Amino acid sequence: MIGIFDSGIGGLTVVREVLKQLPRYRIVYFGDTARTPYGPKSPRTIIEYALEDTEFLLKQGAQIIVVACNSVSSVATAVLKERFRVPIFEVIAPAVRTTLALTRRRRVGIIGTRATIDSGVYERSLKALDPEIQVFSHPCPLLVPLVEEGWLKRTETKQIVRKYLYPLKLKQIDTLVLGCTHYPLLKGIIQTKIGRRVRVIDSSQEVAAWVKTYLEENPTLAGSLSAAEGEGGGHRFFVSDLTPNSEAIARDFLGRPITLEMAGD
Ligand code: DGL
Repeated sequence: MIGIFDSGIGGLTVVREVLKQLPRYRIVYFGDTARTPYGPKSPRTIIEYALEDTEFLLKQGAQIIVVACNSVSSVATAVLKERFRVPIFEVIAPAVRTTLALTRRRRVGIIGTRATIDSGVYERSLKALDPEIQVFSHPCPLLVPLVEEGWLKRTETKQIVRKYLYPLKLKQIDTLVLGCTHYPLLKGIIQTKIGRRVRVIDSSQEVAAWVKTYLEENPTLAGSLSAAEGEGGGHRFFVSDLTPNSEAIARDFLGRPITLEMAGD
């Protein structure tokens, strides 16, 4: 099984891409909805949660782990790779590779939660591979709650997106990385506000493509992964807190109806 986890339901944007690019495999998802958001928390707390999230998925039978959360990927990847033997994929590295391949004027913008932006991981990774690249980062903490409220097309959301992107627009970036699980739902607005000529990199698509390539290159592992079965694929979606509107919000992220299960029940 492909295990995918996030601080909450935002990681379903990654599940959506994995389902699109790797429809053959069974998925087990964990969204830590009881402790979300991770973005404003300290690296120490995020690492502690990430270890528990990974352990939960391994107990469910996950054979590889996809860290869908940018905040976790930013601060906990090294610890997770050290602690667990299974292959671990995170969202930063593939987004960095695609950014380097696509940027023409090497002026790149990064948006994400405070944890992701404060970690400086995108900037460090980009500069390690291209010391001349110019990186402009901007935290956008209001976007996560707006997306979770379903305010995807509201005027207020458009105004906030415009305000957040304005400093990046002034820097004349040519590529913008969506460094948060929630931002793909605002991709249309973000593209409009930053300008048609800026390439917008969606880390959920990039990580799914990376897992796909990895499995093609590692057929033994690919062959050992449980296959999707039946109409629902046999996928399971666990959360640590379930509220009456959880499934409705989750449907927005996944793009189709979903049944959530309470972890530990
Ligand atoms: N999943 C988080 C991320 O991608 C966003 C939500 C949160 O702050 O927990 O950074």
